[in-house]
Amino acid sequence: MNGKDYVLKMLEEHKGESISGHLLAQTLGLSRTAIWKYIDQLRKEGYQIDAVRNKGYFLQTESDLLSKEGIGLYLKDKSLIPSIHVYKTIDSTNVLAKQLAVAGAPHGTLVISEEQTAGRGRLGRTFYSPANSGIYMSLILRPKESIQNALLITIAASVVVHLAIKKLTGIETKIKWVNDLYLQDKKVCGILTEAGSNFESGEVEYIVLGIGLNVRTALDAFPDDLKRIATSLFDPLNKSQTRNELVAEIMNEMLAVSEKLADRDYLKIYKASSNVLNQEIEIIRGSSKEVAKAIDIDEFGGLMVVTEDGFQKVLNSGEISIRRKSSDDSHGCG
Ligand code: BTN
Repeated sequence: MNGKDYVLKMLEEHKGESISGHLLAQTLGLSRTAIWKYIDQLRKEGYQIDAVRNKGYFLQTESDLLSKEGIGLYLKDKSLIPSIHVYKTIDSTNVLAKQLAVAGAPHGTLVISEEQTAGRGRLGRTFYSPANSGIYMSLILRPKESIQNALLITIAASVVVHLAIKKLTGIETKIKWVNDLYLQDKKVCGILTEAGSNFESGEVEYIVLGIGLNVRTALDAFPDDLKRIATSLFDPLNKSQTRNELVAEIMNEMLAVSEKLADRDYLKIYKASSNVLNQEIEIIRGSSKEVAKAIDIDEFGGLMVVTEDGFQKVLNSGEISIRRKSSDDSHGCG
């Protein structure tokens, strides 16, 4: 950590309170001039830091820039996270995380960005990722599991994000199979899981778990094709929860659940939060659609359905839309 990061760490620890330049200088073993220089740099990066006469520096409560220091404050066990790579802008956090994973980055490595210029969605779609309003994160996992159990990570991740949102905001999202989160019938979060395996051993070498969450994206800022189907957790002016805290909560729980995927404890919450079960759905394959009823989730996260002609089958991947909607809700969205 450099001097500026230490200053930021202390400011984040005392967010919403003033901290004197003298105390900062003394604690960090730096001169008052050096402190002032770092404060100036942080302000230029966008941190809302006030200087209050006779009191010192004050990081405003609503300051919500993503940072290692801000995330670190809420991590349960920092030793589980070998490194956090924070970007202002990047093409796709999943692309970089995959490169890092191939180069050997360990379990728990996180890549996160304020903005993505080429955010990737499922099924070759894009993910709208505007600056400073969402969470675009990719976590490298190396689960010690069979391929079948490791694939459950995608189901477990939707439950983890659903619970993190509920815990920190009180907002109750719904899970649309496979792993989209919905709020008032619109998509608020998408998850893209990409894996690398070793063909010889048949083992999963790494999983890159990419999570895109619209936190306070202005609804009228969504591109026209998404306005009807995408939403955000908060209004852009609502600063009540910091993204750093949400990211840390997701990390804490994701690392815990990745150690016990085989337990399948999360399946119960997954089912209880599903907006698909007992609904009429359409199974989408290219331009054709088949009507069915979603009846259950199997132990590997497959969607069990009964088709119109009475056949029962399990969907293990692909795309569905819920029929009660007047129109297709199956598009990828940011
Ligand atoms: C989907 O809904 O189709 C999945 C969207 C996944 C988006 C996230 S944002 C962080 C990570 N980086 C990407 O390029 N995509 C994922």
